[in-house]
Amino acid sequence: MERQAVNKLNRRLLKNYLGKKSDLAEEEITVLAKLFFDERHFLIEKDALFLNIPQPVAFSSEISKPDSYLALEVLNFPIVLTRDHEGTLRAFINACAHRGAKVAKGIGKNRRLTCEFHGWSYSMDGNLTGRPQESCFSTDKSECSLVKLAVSEECGIVLVGLTEDMKISPKDAGFSEIASELTDFKLKDYRFIKRKEYEVAANWKLINNLSLESYHFATLHRDTVAKVLSGSSIFDTYERCSRWAFPLLSIERLENLPEHEWPSTVEGSCTYTLYPGVMVIVNASGAQMIRTDPGEKPNSTRVSYIGLAHPDASEEAARNGYEFGGKVFEEEDLSTAINCQKGLEASKKDLIIGTNEPLLQFWHGLWSDATQ
Ligand code: FES
Ligand SMILES: [Fe+2]
Repeated sequence: MERQAVNKLNRRLLKNYLGKKSDLAEEEITVLAKLFFDERHFLIEKDALFLNIPQPVAFSSEISKPDSYLALEVLNFPIVLTRDHEGTLRAFINACAHRGAKVAKGIGKNRRLTCEFHGWSYSMDGNLTGRPQESCFSTDKSECSLVKLAVSEECGIVLVGLTEDMKISPKDAGFSEIASELTDFKLKDYRFIKRKEYEVAANWKLINNLSLESYHFATLHRDTVAKVLSGSSIFDTYERCSRWAFPLLSIERLENLPEHEWPSTVEGSCTYTLYPGVMVIVNASGAQMIRTDPGEKPNSTRVSYIGLAHPDASEEAARNGYEFGGKVFEEEDLSTAINCQKGLEASKKDLIIGTNEPLLQFWHGLWSDATQ
């Protein structure tokens, strides 16, 4: 991010911190409770927000080396990303042409993918290269390639489309207004630390909501996050993406420093939210991605939490940041989302979103617009 832009954000953060306030929305809104458990609405959301829209699914640096692969689940679709010897990234349905078993699991390095069921193997460009007892098969090998998906890398983030012909530029993905700012972070140069997956018994929107308001810092996170970060946040919204930031408590020191001595990075944590609700969190030691994939039911979600280390940060600092964030997220945030889900299903009372939760208002508005 350019120096001028960093100073501007730090100025806004400092002002809110010193004034003990946050950027606000104009008025309170409510969101219908049934949007979190209605089966019909859930199918409409899957179709409008996931199946037909480019999906940010991974960081490029998770699969940066030649001859590497990364197996994922996106909306219950088994997916495999491959990077070939020349560095070209591809995406396929992770399903063997013989009988559909996965041809890759987890993350790894290899020049081919081999199905563990009967051993059919594929090159990194998805072509079938070998099958044991070849003489028993008459279907031509050329008809047994893996099914291709649309894929591209933008700003150090891998975008996948669940059909081959989907357009997936930053504009199609809804974040062209912040693409140059994201590119400035050079996320491609960060080091991959870890990817964790959680199955959570709560609606995907409730989980996204956790990463879009700081109102809960002083209560839910009083003994953890609130010890280092202030809830005095700022936000900016664009057509289909947003930026949200809140300061480290250490921002106080900037009050008595001339601006030319201010740090070259934001004194806090920035969360960029990419449509339909993928969090890319950037701070001094690294970056994290939180992705929520709706599961089989409105109250089931697969959450991916991915960590990267800043090139100049020590491995230990980056790992500690990732693990600390993950522990708080799992033990404090995700458990609360599960509570909220049960409560909403039982009470059927609509949700109240205050003026101090402006990004929840913005994102619920976008999700609602897409599913009308
Ligand atoms: S299902 Fe893959 S080799 Fe049989
Ligand atoms: Fe939280």
